[in-house]
Amino acid sequence: MLSYRHAFHAGNFADVHKHAVLALLLRALRKKDTAFCCIDTHGGAGRYDLLSAEAQKNKEYADGIGRLWGRGSPPAVLEHYLAAVRACNAGAGAQMLEDAPRYYPGSPRLIRHYLRPQDRLILTELHSSDIIALREEFSGDPQVGVHHLDAYQGLKAFLPPKEKRGLVLIDPAFERHDEVERAVRGLHFAWQRWPQGIFALWYPITHRASTENIRQWLTKLKIAKSLVAEMCVRAPDSARRLSGSGMVLVNPPWRLDEEIKDACRYLAETLASDGGAHSRTDWVLPG
Ligand SMILES: C[S@@+](CC[C@H](N)C(=O)[O-])C[C@H]1O[C@@H](n2cnc3c(N)ncnc32)[C@H](O)[C@@H]1O
Repeated sequence: MLSYRHAFHAGNFADVHKHAVLALLLRALRKKDTAFCCIDTHGGAGRYDLLSAEAQKNKEYADGIGRLWGRGSPPAVLEHYLAAVRACNAGAGAQMLEDAPRYYPGSPRLIRHYLRPQDRLILTELHSSDIIALREEFSGDPQVGVHHLDAYQGLKAFLPPKEKRGLVLIDPAFERHDEVERAVRGLHFAWQRWPQGIFALWYPITHRASTENIRQWLTKLKIAKSLVAEMCVRAPDSARRLSGSGMVLVNPPWRLDEEIKDACRYLAETLASDGGAHSRTDWVLPG
């Protein structure tokens, strides 16, 4: 039984970090004309109305996209991401919120923003309500396939894609106590099936051990060319409360690590909620 609903968290600091990094990967994929394929294993609802009752409950977006939205002149490494958020709001001008955009693009809508006519997106989602929203969001779009399917079954079914290039995003809800192991093993499986693919795995940071755990798994499974990009908005204050957001990136495009590092540093400063905010971007296994 799945209880997690991303609508309560859409546009929060973790979404901003995850999607800003994702936007840099997608921008790099667009540099060559040959087609690419993206697989988003935990699609969610695709796009979120920040005026919905769910988003308004705790207004998590206010300390995420809301903080960036109100600031002028973002650094170049975030311009693409913010342009994608603006594109999601095209035509929604009259209904904008005071402190944030009205609509926030989930990873499926963000990835769709970067597709050219030759590219494809495959989405899997298991929740019975979110899959309905996701299907509606992309209904009639021939470049997007939406599947009511377990993420890890989807990796078996869709990898490797016929395109030689592309990206897999693994973004679980972490409701299960064994989700870190399951996600890293899923990443390992996917990487073995498609060694030239780019992989991004999101994970929550609650305390120091949670980030060391990810590094230990990457080392144990010998996943080469793995970069870890983390952004924490506060010092850890309990083993349960989210203090930061992490991304494992496997095979990130050449020299993107420096841009990712700059983006994470800026986001840690801008989204900080106390003096413990910081970022850390480093290679676990370089190659
Ligand atoms: C963190 S949310 C995804 C957010 C989305 N990737 C984004 O960035 O906008 C995790 C999603 O995974 C879904 N989910 C949980 N377990 C799943 C599984 N085994 N297979 C596919 N989807 C799953 C949940 O219903 C939820 O919508």
